Amino acid sequence: MPELRPYRPADRAAVYEICVRTADAGADATGLYSSDELMPDIYAGPYLEYAPELATLVVDGTGESERVLGYIIAAADTHDFVRWYREHWLPRFAERYAPAGEPASVVSAAERSVIAAGLHPAEPPAAELAEFPAHLHINLLPETQGRGLGRTLITTLLAQLRALNVPGVHLGFEPRNGGAAAFYARLGFRPLPSASEQAPRVGISTAAEL
Ligand SMILES: CC(C)(COP(=O)(O)OP(=O)(O)OC[C@H]1O[C@@H](n2cnc3c(N)ncnc32)[C@H](O)[C@@H]1OP(=O)(O)O)[C@@H](O)C(=O)NCCC(=O)NCCS
Repeated sequence: MPELRPYRPADRAAVYEICVRTADAGADATGLYSSDELMPDIYAGPYLEYAPELATLVVDGTGESERVLGYIIAAADTHDFVRWYREHWLPRFAERYAPAGEPASVVSAAERSVIAAGLHPAEPPAAELAEFPAHLHINLLPETQGRGLGRTLITTLLAQLRALNVPGVHLGFEPRNGGAAAFYARLGFRPLPSASEQAPRVGISTAAEL
């Protein structure tokens, strides 16, 4: 029976693996880009370093046979996270993925746009951040989806953020990720004013009952 437990530094490789296996709008992104670490280096690694205490895993089995099946990661203060990312993460990211100041010309257009997202972290308008200062990423391996664990992970994070007096949490997702759109709508996330069809973005109060 899968269980939740806090993240530990030794789990980093497992989180990276789950990230890449669900990073193509919810589908497997393995082999899509020059390095399978590109997506996790944007959408997982920074959070594990910035706020490991907000990372929760879904695991199955115990001891040596334990397997990590999914995770939720977050930043309680997106504005501060972006500041930290630019100062502490971006130099390492840029050195690896854009050593000459921009992505190598040999990489695909799709990969260039992913690298650009890593080079230019964006944040929602200030009014939206005031209401939903936190943001999150949630990823479960396919065999673990549809069993209520996504809902449990969100409930767990909302309680952690509430305890920190954070009023709300937001996130963006790829427009072609219909499963994610349905999941967030079902849980009561609502579209934010800055969202568009090309860049859906939703938020929820930490006081919400799921
Ligand atoms: C999106 C994701 C986190 C949802 O987690 P999950 O454990 O599969 O979802 P749950 O089983 O907790 O579902 C909660 C509710 O959302 C609904 N829901 C979840 N996925 C859905 C889907 N693909 N289509 C329609 N409804 C869906 C469920 O029916 C459920 O409703 P109910 O409680 O009324 O029965 C998970 O499927 C996942 O990790 N997908 C791959 C990675 C990804 O896309 N992450 C999000 C990137 S922004």
